[in-house]
Amino acid sequence: MDKRPIGIFDSGLGGLSAVKAVLKYLPEEDIVYFGDTQRVPYGSRSAETIESYAKDDIAFLEKFDCKLIMAACGTVSSVAVNAISEIKEPFVGVVKPAAKAAVNATRNNKIGVMATWATINSGAYTKEIQKTNSDVEVLGVSCPVLVSLVENDWIDEDDYISREIIKRYLTPILEQGVDTIILGCTHFPHLAPIIQSVCGDNVTLIDNGFEAVMEAKEILEKSGLANDKEHKGTAQYFVSDKTQNFSMIAKSLLGIDISNKVSLKEIK
Ligand code: DGL
Repeated sequence: MDKRPIGIFDSGLGGLSAVKAVLKYLPEEDIVYFGDTQRVPYGSRSAETIESYAKDDIAFLEKFDCKLIMAACGTVSSVAVNAISEIKEPFVGVVKPAAKAAVNATRNNKIGVMATWATINSGAYTKEIQKTNSDVEVLGVSCPVLVSLVENDWIDEDDYISREIIKRYLTPILEQGVDTIILGCTHFPHLAPIIQSVCGDNVTLIDNGFEAVMEAKEILEKSGLANDKEHKGTAQYFVSDKTQNFSMIAKSLLGIDISNKVSLKEIK
């Protein structure tokens, strides 16, 4: 049994899709979340910048003596390979678990990946998928505008504009017959109801935040790092810019009010 917290980070609100899964499937775990709200988005930046942001995020979480660190960010998981390789704690990113789930889900070996520009450009999901099954065709589409839709809470299933934007991004890969789509940026699971209605029920969506939490659960259990099941997990949230909308949108994404748990962490 290990009482130390799990550290989770993202460029902003997207990683709350992983937090949502922790609250549901690992309710006994304490978490420390960091959202780099001052520097979001990461996905349109250079690899050097993403590496350096990731190093800051990891260094911040390491101060909490975390037993596991999770990059709940597709961009960091895909691009910041040097920063990740220096992490001393057990680490979970979102690319490997999502790629594995997608390979298991596809029936026609055609997988779509929706992610940020930096993630698609890195080819990380394609490499990971084809390591498992080289027959799978991977069709990536970078969808940077979707990050803003989530950061602005335009996630309602009936939101006509969000739906049209999603349709515009997805039409080319749907026309090529993908039967499985990885939501390769942790912001995107928050848009899952709209994405699913654009794709139709025959397409399986893979939520990378959820898959990462399932991997974390397995690591904690196998290595004796899980917390006492009787413990009621706590959560602390840190942001690099205390934008008023963080707590407000977090409420809409998580369904709970976290406003009294959010603190500012200044970036040097
Ligand atoms: N949530 C992030 C990801 O998973 C990044 C969005 C962004 O900052 O561009 O890629």
